[in-house]
Amino acid sequence: MSKFYITTPLYYVNASPHIGHAYTNVICDCLARFRRIQGDSVFFLTGTDEHGEKIKRAADAENTSVENFVNSKVSVFKNLWNKLDISYDFFIRTTDNFHKETVGKAIKILFDKGDIYKAKYRGFYCMPCESFWTEAQVKEADGCPLCKRGVEEIVEDNYFFKLSKYESWLKSYLKEKPDLIRPRIRYNEVMGFLDNNVLEDLCISRPKKRVSWGIDFPADSNFVVYVWFDALLNYISAVGFDRDEGRFNSLWPADIQLIGKDIIRHHAIFWPIMLKALGLEPPRIIFAHGWWKIGEDKISKSKGNIVNPLELIEEFGVSALRYFLLREVPVGMDGNFSYKTIINRINSDLANDLGNLVYRVLNMAQKYFSGRIDAGNVNIPDSFNSSLHELSKEYAAYMNEVDFASALDAIWKFIGVMNKFVEEVKPWILWKEAKTDELKWFLFSLLEGIRITSIYIYPFMPRVSESILEQLGLVPEKDIGLENVLWRKRTFVIKKGNPLFPRIDVD
Ligand code: MSP
Repeated sequence: MSKFYITTPLYYVNASPHIGHAYTNVICDCLARFRRIQGDSVFFLTGTDEHGEKIKRAADAENTSVENFVNSKVSVFKNLWNKLDISYDFFIRTTDNFHKETVGKAIKILFDKGDIYKAKYRGFYCMPCESFWTEAQVKEADGCPLCKRGVEEIVEDNYFFKLSKYESWLKSYLKEKPDLIRPRIRYNEVMGFLDNNVLEDLCISRPKKRVSWGIDFPADSNFVVYVWFDALLNYISAVGFDRDEGRFNSLWPADIQLIGKDIIRHHAIFWPIMLKALGLEPPRIIFAHGWWKIGEDKISKSKGNIVNPLELIEEFGVSALRYFLLREVPVGMDGNFSYKTIINRINSDLANDLGNLVYRVLNMAQKYFSGRIDAGNVNIPDSFNSSLHELSKEYAAYMNEVDFASALDAIWKFIGVMNKFVEEVKPWILWKEAKTDELKWFLFSLLEGIRITSIYIYPFMPRVSESILEQLGLVPEKDIGLENVLWRKRTFVIKKGNPLFPRIDVD
């Protein structure tokens, strides 16, 4: 059994979560569930990023105290994760006291080491992105390089973290570990950036007169800590850094940190350097997924094109939504969201291929054998044997690579084999000709095939997996586990339920 520590980014609470935010957590949930059914000891962390002027202003706009505002937003996120079946183990808030203490301690360690100093700062600030840019960057992008909006020039005293001191270390570390940043296109982006730019020290404080809502800068209460420096530290504060050594050492380094491609520099440059300076190992993998877009535009609050995941769950169900997000686009690439594509996916893959198969087979088992089918002396059909063999070889490899589209493809190949088997064997003829043994062999094979499929799809659609197993008369808590994907003789006593995925009519 190995440990598996997985993290999501912390979500800003100034807006309600949209489908892009849901996406990161669904990816992480799928990986976490896969590791659990593989028998690993998983720690899955998510949470909220609650400091910064952007959040203070959002609270002011709602005429409420910032404390009330963040508390109410946190429940919006928790409610969504609950509805999306996100099985996180811990929810961290950057306003948690233990986190604030860790941030203070980390800054003190870096200060004592000489990695933090005070100096004059001149830069260009983008409030919506909470990011500072140099003059050259702003000129090149004609505004904020991230969101293209206007920026504010700022000159003030501040504290700096010596990123530059670690530049050559980072370059050689990343050269030695070309698989740390994934997919490869993001690794190349980061290496290209490091090759073409000299790293400047990072301004990690904000004067309170300008930014009032944040963690107090240790030993200088005129300042608060820059939100990104505060938020990144969550990944170690959540697991006990400088508080619970045993726990921390058993979990750090994180095995995989999922982020969107827009926050790659914070995670692939600032974060490993912060860790190195603190004497800690960088995470094993930083995986950046792509964006969900509508047309050419990233889905975002500022573009006003948000798609609300709660409405999609209401309309299509949580399993269909999870399936769509994980199947439609290879993780790492951008995806285009449309109702048409989600409905097509549901009707073809879920209602037709999977739902129909389960419904028909259970129906026949009920009709021909009153729901009780035992294995007798049956052997696995040849076509099942080769397809399952391939699936069991490929599945874990694809899942470990976060290649969900290929993992699902491999599962759906086997579903295709089962559907073809129904068409070829023609059970209604066996019934007419009273070939009971053959009919039993046919049904047992399909029931066992469906049982195995339900385990493979568990990380993607846990509810569907559980529902199938219950309909097969099994106990999900006991039967979901990758050790159970082997073909076994057994007796099924089925309890047929409703169709898993009703077809969606399109007018
Ligand atoms: N608070 C920072 C992260 C700090 S982590 C220490 C932040 N928050 S965010 O709420 O703006 O974004 C959170 C995540 O949502 C990011 O990984 C971002 O890439 C992702 N997405 C936001 N919009 C998205 C899409 N339209 N599509 C896919 N993911 C996108 O950044």
